[in-house]
Amino acid sequence: MSEYVVKSDLLGKSFPGPKRGEENIVFENVNFRLKRGEFVTCIGHSGCGKSTILNILAGLEKPTSGGVLVDGKEVAGPGLDRAVVFQNHSLLPWLSAQDNVDFAVRAKWPKWDSAQVRDHSRKYLSRASLTEGLDRKPHALSGGMRQRVGIARAFALETEVLLMDEPFGALDALTRGSIQDELIKIWSETRKTVFMITHDVDEAILLSDRIFLMTNGPKANIAEAVVVDIPRPRNRGDIIHHPGYYDIRNHIIDFLVQRSKELSGAARSVPLEEVKTSQSLVYPPDVNPIRSAGDAGPDRKLA
Ligand SMILES: Nc1ncnc2c1ncn2[C@@H]1O[C@H](COP(=O)(O)OP(=O)(O)OP(=O)(O)O)[C@@H](O)[C@H]1O
Ligand SMILES: [Mg+2]
Repeated sequence: MSEYVVKSDLLGKSFPGPKRGEENIVFENVNFRLKRGEFVTCIGHSGCGKSTILNILAGLEKPTSGGVLVDGKEVAGPGLDRAVVFQNHSLLPWLSAQDNVDFAVRAKWPKWDSAQVRDHSRKYLSRASLTEGLDRKPHALSGGMRQRVGIARAFALETEVLLMDEPFGALDALTRGSIQDELIKIWSETRKTVFMITHDVDEAILLSDRIFLMTNGPKANIAEAVVVDIPRPRNRGDIIHHPGYYDIRNHIIDFLVQRSKELSGAARSVPLEEVKTSQSLVYPPDVNPIRSAGDAGPDRKLA
């Protein structure tokens, strides 16, 4: 089994522009690898193409150029090897919380009897700290509970890859914090490969092994992969006291404020993918398999 579960090669997506014959190149030459069991988040300004990349990984959208392999197979449509959590929960409104998870589990394991399905769902619901209110329909659950059900459902499918598009975007800060904790718990118990989009820098640092930084569109790209080498287990209260925390945070903010614009639309045949570690502040050579010879060398110190 390859160390890399997901490979994106020269991925590009264009949509027809406002005038006839015009095209809007959202992103191009997007190359990345996701390691098995890795938690990767993607940050970039609104409209740079994050959801489009996630939808291509999910098989819900087709790329204009390049392609994506999951476990060596080209993604040609949605599949049971990938589960998705959307920003606005996508629970079936006529089914209870429990039935929503059961429904997905039954689709994946059609030969299981009801007791097997229920036990399996319960295991994941309780991992997401949902033990009460399971007979309630989504409209009678709080926003946080709905997101928990969505997360439980996605993890219950035991897919190798989990794709999450701003799963906590609509939640207040307190609820968001407690669901982040649930997510860390359930991910550490299952060690699935996660690709998650967020706009929240602190959330990204708390959760990620690596953070992909996207330049602004059009012609956006993933310009850097920031390694978060703060040891796990991490918790929200302590992580900000880690000596590397603010280096990483400032680096990301600086990218979003300044460099995401400057690097935007830069034509590259092979994209730059740099890495920052909080301890050594150098780009280790082994992390990026696709560094071009023209890029700054692996020992380049960060400013
Ligand atoms: N079906 C479509 N037809 C035309 N243009 C589209 C379509 N889907 C997305 N786009 C355009 O592609 C670009 C990227 O959209 P996308 O939703 O991927 O951005 P995003 O990075 O997820 O933004 P946000 O952070 O606001 O969610 C935008 O300019 C958007 O208008
Ligand atoms: Mg989006």
